Amino acid sequence: MDSSVPGSEEDRRYMMAAIRLARRNRGRTGANPCVGCLIVASSDAGARIVGAGVTAIGGRPHAETIALEEAGPSARGATAYVSLEPCAHIGGTPPCARALINAGVARVVSALTDPDARVSGQGHAMLRAGGVEVQERICEAAAAIDLEGYLSLKERGRPYVIVKLAVSTDGFVGVRGGGQVSITGAVANAQTHRLRSISDAILVGAGTIIEDDPSLTCRLPGLEERSPHRLVLDANARVPVDAKVIATASSTPTSLICAETPTGARAEALNAAGCGIIACEVEAGRVALEPLLRILGEQKISLLMVEGGREVARSFLEQRLADDLLLLVGPRAIGNDRNTGGLVRSPVQPDEVPAGFVKVGERRYGDDRALLFRRVGEE
Ligand SMILES: NC(=O)c1ccc[n+]([C@@H]2O[C@H](COP(=O)([O-])OP(=O)(O)OC[C@H]3O[C@@H](n4cnc5c(N)ncnc54)[C@H](OP(=O)(O)O)[C@@H]3O)[C@@H](O)[C@H]2O)c1
Repeated sequence: MDSSVPGSEEDRRYMMAAIRLARRNRGRTGANPCVGCLIVASSDAGARIVGAGVTAIGGRPHAETIALEEAGPSARGATAYVSLEPCAHIGGTPPCARALINAGVARVVSALTDPDARVSGQGHAMLRAGGVEVQERICEAAAAIDLEGYLSLKERGRPYVIVKLAVSTDGFVGVRGGGQVSITGAVANAQTHRLRSISDAILVGAGTIIEDDPSLTCRLPGLEERSPHRLVLDANARVPVDAKVIATASSTPTSLICAETPTGARAEALNAAGCGIIACEVEAGRVALEPLLRILGEQKISLLMVEGGREVARSFLEQRLADDLLLLVGPRAIGNDRNTGGLVRSPVQPDEVPAGFVKVGERRYGDDRALLFRRVGEE
């Protein structure tokens, strides 16, 4: 066993299983964190999972309640693995720490302390006071990655921001006047839709709507219901009211972020389509991003996916408001003799990312490369 890593190998194995279980409802638990819980009973025959739970869609019941219900009397003397500290406050349900004590659980292994002021450390304290052995911070970093949106909302009052860009091998993100240009293949596109499915909101600028008229929905079979709220930065009311994201706003919510609430025929058309308006401060004629992120935080948007285009990605990166930068690099060049004038250069290149970002992952999606960079060492 590696003595520099907290917890036994068995504890880490079950905790990673609890963390993976939590992914099942990621993005679907509203303002509540999506937590995984496993109850493991040991006997002479070995260890056995007797209960498993993940925070239910909408946030209730909690993972511990579901796992304890499944375990029944087998929870007595067992170990509970939870990816976030069990709650100690009486909210919609009695505290999970109390439920674990009452069920006779002997040991609780947790990954993260809950930053919510009503819990923070008190869940662990309640368990200890109830005679339960507690081991904290097992697989803490892995759990924090999946709970990044929740932690960001609690600690910074704003969403975790992922800027995603598809970049051609010659360094472009699109062709002005050319509509949507295919840069990446089917596997990378499916991964983009998967990321949409776990995000609370997806954001683009007016330029992308005018140039590409995208749908910005999740279209993976079986996950169509998981399309996030669509947000468009439109300080100067440029977005046409017949754009797809507006025309479909009654089935998948869309909001325009504007300097002023629209009036007249534009207001009527937006209203009729069911399109929302978020009025926000403007700086130099553009939506002020920090105030916008605070507004989104108040609306409990915890994970925000920024899907471009060039100017919006550039603004988030320059203002150090992007937490992750995901570059999907396609295998072909899109520049050619016909379109040189309209080519839109990417604000970042795979080998030239802004200072403060470090590469934390690289994968192959078919013929494309996915490079994940994370901003470190600031706050
Ligand atoms: N490869 C990819 O991943 C990808 C993704 C999306 C788009 N694209 C491509 O990108 C191109 C469009 O790029 P774009 O730069 O015109 O579009 P954009 O970044 O989507 O939109 C830029 C516009 O958003 C508005 N805006 C409002 N507040 C802003 C702020 N704080 N920061 C930046 N912009 C703000 C501005 O218009 P107002 O001044 O009128 O408010 C600005 O001109 C197209 O060719 C499209 O195909 C590529």
